[in-house]
Amino acid sequence: MCGIVGYVGKQKAAPLILEGLKRLEYRGYDSAGLVLLENGRFTVAKKIGRVANLETVTAPLPLPGHHGMGHTRWATHGGVTDANAHPHVSSDGRIALIHNGVIENYSKLKAFLLGKGYTFVSETDTEVLCNLIAYHYAKEPAAAAGDSRFVNSVRKALGHTEGTYGIVVMATDAPGELVTARKGSPLILGLGDGESLVASDVAAIVSRTQNVVYLKDGQIAHLTATTFAITTQNSGTVDPVIDKVTWSIADAEKGAYAHFMEKEIFEQPAALENAMRGRFSEDGSTAQFGGLNLSAGEFRGIERFMFCACGTALHACMVTEHLIERFARIPVECDYASEFRYRNAPLFRNTLFFVMSQSGETIDTLAALREAKRKGYKVLAVNNVVGSSIAREADGGIYQHVGPEVGVASTKAFTSQLLIGAMLALYIGRLRDLSFGEGVQIVRALKGAPDLARRALQQADHIRGIAQRYAHHTDMLFLGRLALFPIALEGALKLKEISYIHAEGYPAAEMKHGPIALVSEQCPSVFFAPSGEMLNKVVSSMQEIKARKGPIIAIVTADVELPAGLADETIVIPECHEAVLPIVASIPVQLLSYYIAVARGCDVDKPRNLAKSVTVE
Ligand code: AGP
Repeated sequence: MCGIVGYVGKQKAAPLILEGLKRLEYRGYDSAGLVLLENGRFTVAKKIGRVANLETVTAPLPLPGHHGMGHTRWATHGGVTDANAHPHVSSDGRIALIHNGVIENYSKLKAFLLGKGYTFVSETDTEVLCNLIAYHYAKEPAAAAGDSRFVNSVRKALGHTEGTYGIVVMATDAPGELVTARKGSPLILGLGDGESLVASDVAAIVSRTQNVVYLKDGQIAHLTATTFAITTQNSGTVDPVIDKVTWSIADAEKGAYAHFMEKEIFEQPAALENAMRGRFSEDGSTAQFGGLNLSAGEFRGIERFMFCACGTALHACMVTEHLIERFARIPVECDYASEFRYRNAPLFRNTLFFVMSQSGETIDTLAALREAKRKGYKVLAVNNVVGSSIAREADGGIYQHVGPEVGVASTKAFTSQLLIGAMLALYIGRLRDLSFGEGVQIVRALKGAPDLARRALQQADHIRGIAQRYAHHTDMLFLGRLALFPIALEGALKLKEISYIHAEGYPAAEMKHGPIALVSEQCPSVFFAPSGEMLNKVVSSMQEIKARKGPIIAIVTADVELPAGLADETIVIPECHEAVLPIVASIPVQLLSYYIAVARGCDVDKPRNLAKSVTVE
């Protein structure tokens, strides 16, 4: 959603801020802006639309200074206008602010500030916070020794604020200083060579430094080019931990690919290797994870699992549910994190919670985690972003290790979640009834996943051809059974988010309970038809569609021969074990959605209205 980047150092700030903003574009936004400080004066530029628009309006400006900050805004309070874009400057001209999050009590604060003579030019909650900081700054005595008027005024203003924030503040009286604070919105400090940065996402600063500090909720940092100090909202001091980012800028660039999504689809074999590396036992019969913080004995005592997530990650949870129930015979429930947080579900004792989140910042998933913890349950997280809010707040977990995922449509993060889910099912199964021999078979199958993914990707040209023939449709159904039902949901989600085609996923047999009414020559159905116990049933569902003239795209395993003329298009994937099938079957629907979106001329990496990580409710 919104993106933040701040800089203070030896270089000209504007080009670095613009570059950082471009690296945040993938998060989704509708306007962008920057502010620079030079000789006690702010230079502000903001523009709706892409960062390219901001570059156009700033190109003729001098853009002075080595100290500034920029923002990409995804509108919450107030429409998409230049005036509502960040940065905001207080009406006395002394404070500039960029903000991710929502200030919930902004109307009350605004009324108070209007009474004190502050004025407003936007409809945003952020401008209210900006003026509140200015109000406290004006009241704060000039700094006593070892104290900072600037930091204190930010702390006081935040003390009166309800809601969530990741903020960066500049003051005309404080050249070369940035103050930044977080509560519920990620912020990372970058410690470079004679320069300091702050960003909402490592991608914005990794070209300058790999030394970072993940700011925690309730912390306030004060940065200059060569120093940084962290305190808490209650004025306590903090001993910071400096982490090293393990990926480089090349990982966050698309190289020769047309889109990040395409790159990430083709990276899946390597991503799967990385997600499984070092995670199988020496005897080759089970999985092992370093960070679960739960002993095998404690795992044996678990009688139920509850998985919460959003969107694509929830589909990965649903596949995991299926596999845990198959391999470990323990009941599993999956829920939308956004529903779980409010529905006050009755929960069983001895339930272990899992949340899954690529970004680790999805607010609904974070809230579900907190709700489960509040009720006394342990929560483990499957997550891709090291140091994310979810990773930090969970009791333990499993990192996906697939590097940055930039495309809004999740691909490599999804299949690695499927892999980790299968490994988890294996691990739990082996603590219970799953035999050594079955364990060995599953391990072999999982180790083969990267190669199977590679073979599925070889269908890319064939799938591109199909996509071109079907790109004009406005409705599509995705139908699968058992563990491929969630992959049908995922196929439908992928298609609608990047191509804007209306698509629905259903268990194949459910189709006749309603969706069949949609079937016509104009509404194609994508069927998953792998070999196995359900094949005949799936074929019957296909016949029913065919009888109503619905075009059929069948995704079949290599050992399946469908009745002649049943499918209009066939995509063949390699035969594989049920633990790996969902991963392999995902690839054709990712490619199909991608090529359809390209054929329709859609902006694949930045689909309309969407954000990479959804950090507001
Ligand atoms: C994936 O293609 C979607 N963009 C979206 O559904 C996403 O999976 C969801 O918002 C959850 O994100 P997370 O994994 O970062 O928590």
